[in-house]
Formats: sequence, structure tokens, C-alpha cells
Amino acid sequence: MKAHMITYGCQMNEYDSHLVQSQLVSLGADMVDSVDQADFVLINTCAVRGKPVDKVRSVLGQLRKEKATRRLVIGMMGCLAQLEEGQQIARKFEVDILLGPGSLLDIGAALESSERFWGLNFKDELHDHIPPPPVGKLQAHLTIMRGCDHHCTYCIVPTTRGPQVSRHPDQILRELDTLLEAGVKEVTLLGQNVNAYGFDTGAKLAGYPSFAELLRMVGASGIPRIKFTTSHPMNFTEDVAAAMGQTPAVCEFVHLPVQSGSDRVLRRMAREYSREKYLTHIAQIRTHMPDAVLATDIIVGFPGETEEDFQDTLSLYDEVGYDSAYMFIYSPRPGTPSYRHFQDLPRELKTERLQRLIVKQKEWSARRNARFQGTVQEVLLRGDAYSAGHLEGHTRGNHPVVVPKAHGAESAGLYRARITATTPHMFYGELIGADGQALSVLPNFEPEAAGLSSPLAML
Ligand code: 5AD
Ligand code: SF4
Repeated sequence: MKAHMITYGCQMNEYDSHLVQSQLVSLGADMVDSVDQADFVLINTCAVRGKPVDKVRSVLGQLRKEKATRRLVIGMMGCLAQLEEGQQIARKFEVDILLGPGSLLDIGAALESSERFWGLNFKDELHDHIPPPPVGKLQAHLTIMRGCDHHCTYCIVPTTRGPQVSRHPDQILRELDTLLEAGVKEVTLLGQNVNAYGFDTGAKLAGYPSFAELLRMVGASGIPRIKFTTSHPMNFTEDVAAAMGQTPAVCEFVHLPVQSGSDRVLRRMAREYSREKYLTHIAQIRTHMPDAVLATDIIVGFPGETEEDFQDTLSLYDEVGYDSAYMFIYSPRPGTPSYRHFQDLPRELKTERLQRLIVKQKEWSARRNARFQGTVQEVLLRGDAYSAGHLEGHTRGNHPVVVPKAHGAESAGLYRARITATTPHMFYGELIGADGQALSVLPNFEPEAAGLSSPLAML
């Protein structure tokens, strides 16, 4: 069997795709890079907003045409596969295999019988499964929990991924060992709400550490860099901020989705915190980790959001001074409480607010990134950049960075770089040695030939 996977959505989906792909390989499949070469195409789907669902529809449309001309098995997994909406789409586009987020290990059985597997029974089997480490990669994901116990009114995730189930710390540490052995330098701990780790349905699980304790345990493993995502402000406690500050491997990066700066909107979203409470968490992070790079998620145009509510979001942005933000237009998702109970705002109003928010985000990202100009940063370079003679990677604060290749730094690895130019989106730097001096750039690097008269020209 020649199999090809297409992945949409979040880092959880990337992890799940890796897991299923390793199952397929162990079943004897060859993974191929394109649909043309494949006799089995599996799409890992996202259902969090309307757009990713539209994308799946359009890819399935093309695959159905292809299937009419030759033998092709089509599979659909991930959040959309779990929903009634996804099952209708699957019927329409003649999808052969459906695999819900809790049934990933059933891929073999599904292929054999062309039956459909869905359900949310994560528990032991999936959590005890240790996928092989990614080949030749310095960066890896590690799932520490699945599902979510919150019920934000706009969010489909509790429906698609079910209630929260934390993974046993022994399994997490076992998987971490395999990553360390494979040479991984940066691990991102994944969960819908990692701060609630060890507290499934609100109660502390016997034998499980809290998330703060887990951070310290993972930090003691010797892995150079730890990141984590995502945090719900409701479950964010000061001991997490303290563990971050006291664990050198934990990167100076926090993604704390706020969604809105208006208390009225936060209540309608059922976010279970106020603007003031959120700001205390930010203050705690800044106390324990003064250099932290702060990122957030914001939804604009939630039903009933007034201009005044939106102004509260803009003023919160200024008060926090975020380094970056993922900004979304509210997307009504069938099956969510806000879809059932609230009237969607006009499209133009939502778009206009998003544009105003993007202006603010760019101003802040430019300002926050400029503070790194001239500083020395640890950079994890993953390989060749688009421009010849360069490597690309990212900092501990998650800024994309590009550097010219230098003697002693010709390929992927963990290095130090002086940041020589910044934009709202990325950094440009030069690699430096242990003595603090710039490493000499490889002779085959010719800025003129690469069309780069100055570092900024490539940003
Ligand atoms: N509409 C728009 N954005 C949404 N998100 C989740 N559900 C919706 C929705 N219905 C955003 C939130 C969340 C991120 C993963 O996606 O900001 O943090
Ligand atoms: Fe959705 Fe809220 Fe759970 Fe995040 S924490 S997945 S926004 S319900």
C-alpha cells in the first residue's frame, strides 16, 4: 500500500498524524509525498472554524474525481470525522474510512474492513502507545492529555475530542526518553488545556503530578528546550509561572488565549475568568519570567460584541503588549451553544474589526521584536532556508529566524545567533561562537548572487 497523509489544524493533529503514520508504516505501508503516487489518502481534519471544514470539502471533491479514474481508498480522521457534519460530508464524497480522534489505533482494522470507527474512548490504549520518534527532526510534540472539560460556548472541541483524560506521567517520561535518545532538542507538551493536567473532571488524580510538577520533571530529563500549548487562563496558577521561571529548559514563551478583553463577552463565551483575573496571570508570568514572549488567541465579532466590547479587547492588547496573536473572526459552529442561542454579527462588521486588530498586532509585534535587536539568542535551526546559503529555525521565544550558514554551522542544530534585524514577523541573525565572535560565513554565501543586498531585503 502506498499511503499519503494530508494534515489540517492544530499541533495535536500533527502529533496524531505522526502517530497514525507510524501505525501505517508498521502495517507495511510506504508513505508517499503526493496524491498521484498514493492508493490510500488519509486526511486529518479540523472542525474548529468553518474555513478548515471548507478546505476538507474541496480536497475531498478533487479526490472523488480521482477515485472515479483509478483504485483509490479515501480516509478521513480528526475532529470533523467525529461530527454529524463530517459524516454527512463523508457520505457525499464517498469516503471509505472514518476514524474519530479516539480511534487512531484502529487504522489497521478500518483498512481491512472499510468499517467506520469513531468514539471518544481515549483512555489507556492510546495513552499507553508510544509512537516512534520523528526521523531526523530536532523538534517533537508530546501529548500529555486529550480532550477538554471546559465548555466555551463557541467551541466544538469538547464535542469532537470529549472530556479531558490526562496521560500517566510514566508514559510521558517514557516517550520523552525515546525523543531524547533520537537527538530531539525541543519538545512541545500538548493538550487542549495543559494547565489542568492531572485534574480530570476537576479532581486531582492519585499518582499524577500537577502541571507545574510535570514541567519540573520534564526539565530534569536533560532536554534543552520545553514548550507547551495550550493554556486556559481559568486553570493557570502561580505555581506554573514559578515552575517556568525555575526550570531553565522551559522556554521564555507563553501562549495564553484571552479570546476577548470585555467581561461581558467573556461571560457570554463562558470563559470562567474576568479581564482582571487574566491580567493577574500575566503579571505572575512577568514576575517569574520577566523576558517571557507572550502570545494569545483572540476572537473578534462574537455574537452581541458591541463597539465598546471591541474597544475593551484593543485596550487589553495595549495593557498586555502581546508579542504576537492568532486572531480569528467568530465562526458559528453547528452543535455549539453560541450557534444555537446567539445571532451571528454581519460579516462586514467582523472583518472590519479584525482589520483594526491586525493593525494593533503589527504595531506591537514590531515594537516587541525590536527589543531583540543586537541580543544573542539560542536558535534551533531545522535546515535549509528558502534563500540559498541560509538556514532557518526559531528562537526560544518562537520567533522564526534566518541566518547565513557559517563554518561549524552548516546544517540543522542548536546554535547561538546575534539578532541583526527584526520585522513584525521574523528575525535575521548571524551565528556566533562560544567566544561571542561571529562565525565566518561559508564562502559559497554570496549575498549579491542570492539577490540580497542587505539582510533586510530577505525579510
Ligand atoms: N470561531 C472562531 N474562532 C474559534 N476558535 C475556537 N472556536 C472558534 C470559533 N467558533 C479559536 C479560539 C481558540 C483557537 C484554537 O481557535 O481562539 O483559542
Ligand atoms: Fe475550546 Fe475552551 Fe476547550 Fe479551548 S479550553 S478547546 S477554547 S472549550
